[in-house]
Amino acid sequence: MKSQEIRAKFLDFFKSKQHEIVPSAPMVLKNDPTLMFTNSGMAPFKEFFLGNAAPKSTRISDSQKCLRVSGKHNDLEEVGYDTYHHTMFEMLGNWSFGDYFKKEAIAWAWELLTEVYKIDKDILYVTVFEGDEKDGTKMDQEAYDFWKEIIPEDRILMGNKKDNFWEMGEQGPCGPCSEIHVDIRSAEEKAKVDGKSLVNEDHPQVVEIWNLVFMQYNRKANGSLVELPSKHIDTGMGFERLCMVLQGVQSNYDTDCFTPLIREIETITGVRYGKDEQVDIAIRVIADHVRAVGFAIADGQLPSNNGAGYVIRRILRRAIRYGFTFLNQKEAFIYKLADTLAHQMGDAFPEIRKQESLVHNVIKEEEQSFLRTLDQGLLLLDRVIESTEGKVVSGKKAFELYDTFGFPLDLTQLIAREKGYEINEEEFAAGMQAQKDRSRAASSSETGDWILVKQDEVEEFVGYDTLTANVKLTRYRKVSSKKEGDQYQLVFNLTPFYPEGGGQVGDKGAIEAPNGDVIYITNTKKENNVIIHFTKTLPTDLTATFKAVVNDEFRRLSASNHSATHLLHQALRAILGDHVEQKGSLVNPNYLRFDFSHFSKVTSDQIEEIEEFVNARIRENLPLEEKRNIPMDQAVQEGAIALFGEKYGDSVRTIRFGQSMELCGGTHVQNTGDIWYFKIKSEAAVAAGIRRIEAITNMAVGDYFEDIERNYNAVKQLLKNPKDLSKSVTSLQEENAQLKKQIEQLLKDKAKSLKGDLKNQIKEVNGVQFLATKVDLDPGSIKNLMFELGGEFDKLFILFATAPSAEKAMLTCYISKDLANERGYDAGKVVRELGKYIHGGGGGQNFFATAGGKNPGGIPKVLEKAVDYLV
Ligand code: SER
Repeated sequence: MKSQEIRAKFLDFFKSKQHEIVPSAPMVLKNDPTLMFTNSGMAPFKEFFLGNAAPKSTRISDSQKCLRVSGKHNDLEEVGYDTYHHTMFEMLGNWSFGDYFKKEAIAWAWELLTEVYKIDKDILYVTVFEGDEKDGTKMDQEAYDFWKEIIPEDRILMGNKKDNFWEMGEQGPCGPCSEIHVDIRSAEEKAKVDGKSLVNEDHPQVVEIWNLVFMQYNRKANGSLVELPSKHIDTGMGFERLCMVLQGVQSNYDTDCFTPLIREIETITGVRYGKDEQVDIAIRVIADHVRAVGFAIADGQLPSNNGAGYVIRRILRRAIRYGFTFLNQKEAFIYKLADTLAHQMGDAFPEIRKQESLVHNVIKEEEQSFLRTLDQGLLLLDRVIESTEGKVVSGKKAFELYDTFGFPLDLTQLIAREKGYEINEEEFAAGMQAQKDRSRAASSSETGDWILVKQDEVEEFVGYDTLTANVKLTRYRKVSSKKEGDQYQLVFNLTPFYPEGGGQVGDKGAIEAPNGDVIYITNTKKENNVIIHFTKTLPTDLTATFKAVVNDEFRRLSASNHSATHLLHQALRAILGDHVEQKGSLVNPNYLRFDFSHFSKVTSDQIEEIEEFVNARIRENLPLEEKRNIPMDQAVQEGAIALFGEKYGDSVRTIRFGQSMELCGGTHVQNTGDIWYFKIKSEAAVAAGIRRIEAITNMAVGDYFEDIERNYNAVKQLLKNPKDLSKSVTSLQEENAQLKKQIEQLLKDKAKSLKGDLKNQIKEVNGVQFLATKVDLDPGSIKNLMFELGGEFDKLFILFATAPSAEKAMLTCYISKDLANERGYDAGKVVRELGKYIHGGGGGQNFFATAGGKNPGGIPKVLEKAVDYLV
């Protein structure tokens, strides 16, 4: 059975059990402070489990793209080494939100596996939670009894909290689970060892395929469990593992989820899969990682230096380095797999086909730039190894290589070993630990439980229509972190505060208590569909009715920039072409940032045209036409632009200004005239095929032009108010160039006459022609002069000191090559050691080296000491 069919059968089965089939949510999560990536099928439904929103159906089923590379669920290090862990994988799932529970979940799972997929019952085992004394949870007798009806009791195994109690994170919904394991070993092996003893023992052919989670508790911040008001089902089946079982192969990588990629890697690199273990690992790593990276890019997450972007960059670098070391690929090649990926998965996930060229370009550029770094890193490593005394290379240096060049330890070790060196691993680990501790200290925070103040059904956002409202506190919690200190997060029954989202920053403002207390709201965010207001203090009377007031200038300017972003998007598509797609945006009161796909630099003529396009729309005074809660299909039919990688609900909001129409939850001006003026401040590349425009609107434009005018006037005044400013700058530049030339000539002349004097000062000491003196020359002339003298004298040793200013000193040392070689003199060592007298340091080669420092007062000492080297 082909993987396409396996997926379709799963969804059809649950459709026949009245489940609504939904598409996969994006793999990269935006606006979720608690999670970077969708790490399980249930993650997109978190808000339903928490009771913060209601699903459109109480039964849902899907195939969800998941990524397990950070946080609580992280499989990265296993990937490639075994045959059944992945960074990105598909999770087939069925959900009940307060609908059916254990009985149906168990019966249907069994029916699907054994009757639809026709898996032999004798190769299946199931597990049941045994209870946990510390948590006060009992053995899951209910699940046991349901299983007992369909499977012999000796195939039901008991499992502990680690394997059979599923938790989303440190806090939140959780519950016991039953896993279904499959034993696909040969009959021979089965006869030798009973499959039962291999369940949950990391055996590659006795693996878990499906996890049925019975969500019945909520884990609180203090670790205790409370019963959830209604019970839910969350199941997750590893799609690739299911394919392995149904296709009768022994490894996920031998299923058609991976074979097309592996064949393509073989074709590109000329190596064969299945001949050498190290090569196989590399091929598996690359086949796995290109899926993770490709889908992340298609979902709008480009590799970068922080957050989710950095995780993606690291995954790709891991793949590059495996290719570099074990497949001998010194040029970029992984990007060539984008085509196979799109072809293979484009039917189930259209985004990968639509974004193919972006995936291709971004990976290519990332590969090329990391390969350049690899080269540079290799050179540095060579130098480190050369200066190593003994055979153990400093782990501190290896850590520096890792930290600044992304050079993994195993690569450093491999190269060092080839040259007969080892790396001090303890030192490396210490460096790594110190870095981890630093970042943990910076980011760690403790979140308390919600404290309920008032039961209220409503949690409504009223901020599209008003900036003030009378509100009541429904719950709050305390968050303590080293970085921010103690903060409170407040939730109100209704709120005019816009929570950060869609690129727009969260509102700021205040709530006023009847007794006159004012509590400042420093930020507003949305978490699992709840709007959270951040404050430094708590109101004294929690049950009062507060007047919530949004900072109207903050909001007005953010809205101005947000509406301008829509007009800019429209302008870019009109002027550059329909291929332009929004890839990210930031909107705050000060400026807007817009990232979009486009393959060349936007020319200055195009920039002017874009500005003019937007400003024309502003002058037209186009009114805001907003539609709320309309069905997604209708919005798209009316021409609204939806963004790839964005998770939209079933009913959406559309924002129209003239011909610009987008799906958007942000806040906007009532009329484009309110934007006043639009000005682009910069245009640049952020990644291959992605450009970034930064622009300003409204009052910021006034400030911008005032600033320019002030500068202009200042320059004009400095130049004594010429009629034609650019002409007088040009003539200054010409004059400057002339003067430079003259100075160069003068310096040359000076060096020539100085040379005569210096030659007379050279003395023979210990068989060496020696001179150490202070000179007054620029570094270029010193070097020339030294090499000229070197041509005229044998066995020459010269040290020149200069003091270009009161805080600057420089040493330059020249030693004839023959002398350096014969006597082991080293100019680098001379300047390094004498450099300490001028409070500085430097280095170079054994025949020429320079050092710089801050203390010209040390020069006499340097000159006195130089002679000591002539031993
Ligand atoms: N949440 C469970 C898991 O990820 C089942 O979907 O294993």
